Amino acid sequence: MTIDKKSLINWVGGKRLLRKTIEPLIPKDIVSYIEPFGGGGWILFYKDKWADLEIYNDLDSRLVNLFRIVKYHPNAFKEEYKYLLGSREMFFQFMNGTFITDIQKAVQFYFIITRSFGGKGGTFGTVKKSTGGACKSQANVMDKIDAIHKRLDKVMIENKDFEKLIKQYDHKEAFFYCDPPYTSGCGYDVTTTEGFDHERLRDILKNIEGRFLLSYDDSPKVRELYKGFEMIEVERQNGINNRQGADRQNKTYKELLIANYPIKELHHAG
Ligand SMILES: C[S@@+](CC[C@H](N)C(=O)[O-])C[C@H]1O[C@@H](n2cnc3c(N)ncnc32)[C@H](O)[C@@H]1O
Repeated sequence: MTIDKKSLINWVGGKRLLRKTIEPLIPKDIVSYIEPFGGGGWILFYKDKWADLEIYNDLDSRLVNLFRIVKYHPNAFKEEYKYLLGSREMFFQFMNGTFITDIQKAVQFYFIITRSFGGKGGTFGTVKKSTGGACKSQANVMDKIDAIHKRLDKVMIENKDFEKLIKQYDHKEAFFYCDPPYTSGCGYDVTTTEGFDHERLRDILKNIEGRFLLSYDDSPKVRELYKGFEMIEVERQNGINNRQGADRQNKTYKELLIANYPIKELHHAG
C-alpha cells in the first residue's frame, strides 16, 4: 500500500508544502538518510525509501512514542483508537487525562494532535465545510496506520538531542535533512524558538563529514550564520501557525534551503 504521499500527523512547521521542492535536492548516492528534527516526518514519508539506513529522530518523546507504537504495535493502536469518538469532551478529557500504557499515550497524543486547531494540540478544531476536525474518517486513520507501519519497517527511531544524533551517525556517505525550529514562530514543547541554540547547530553542521540540507526561515540571523554555504530562497503558502500579529494577512512565507553541497543546479534542473 502506498502512503499516498502523506504523513501521520500535521505538525507545527511540517514540510508538507515544500516536499516537491526539497525532493530533487536530496542526493541519490547516499547510504544513510537521517532526520534529526523529524516532527511529523513529511519528507521521510514522501518517498518509500531514501537510503538503506534511515533514521527518524526528535527530542519530543510524545512523537517518538507515537511512531514507535505504530511501528511495533499497529494493531494494538488501532484497537484502542477505534472506539474513540470525535467529541469535544473526549478531547479535553485526554488533554487533562492520564494514561497507563505507552499505547494509550500514543493514541491520546494522536487524537489530540489530529483533532486540534492547526495541529497544535491546544484548541479543539471544528470545521464548517470539510470533513476534517471532529468528523475525520476513522477508516482513513486505520489505513494510514497500516501504511506508516509498513513505511517504518526499516526506519530506526531515535529520541536524542540533535548534537548527539548527528555526531553518532555522521560519515562520508551520510545525509542529514535538518528542519530545526525557526528563529521566529511558535516554538515546540521541547524548546521555544528563542531557546533553541542555532549557533550550536551551525557549529556541528559546519564540521560534519557527510552532507546536509537545512530548511530555515529567511532571516538576517540565518543568512549570517550560514554565510558561505549555498542557499536557495523559496516561497510557500503561509500556514495558520505562522500567521501572527501584523503578519496575519500575509499569505506567503519566505524560507531558505541551505546545504554543504551544490544545490542550485539541482534546483534549476528539478
Ligand atoms: C520544524 S519541526 C520539524 C518538522 C518536520 N520536518 C515535519 O515535516 O513535520 C522541528 C522539530 O524539532 C524538534 N526539536 C526541537 N529541539 C530539538 C533538539 N534539540 N534536538 C532534536 N529535536 C529537536 C521539535 O520537537 C520539532 O518536532
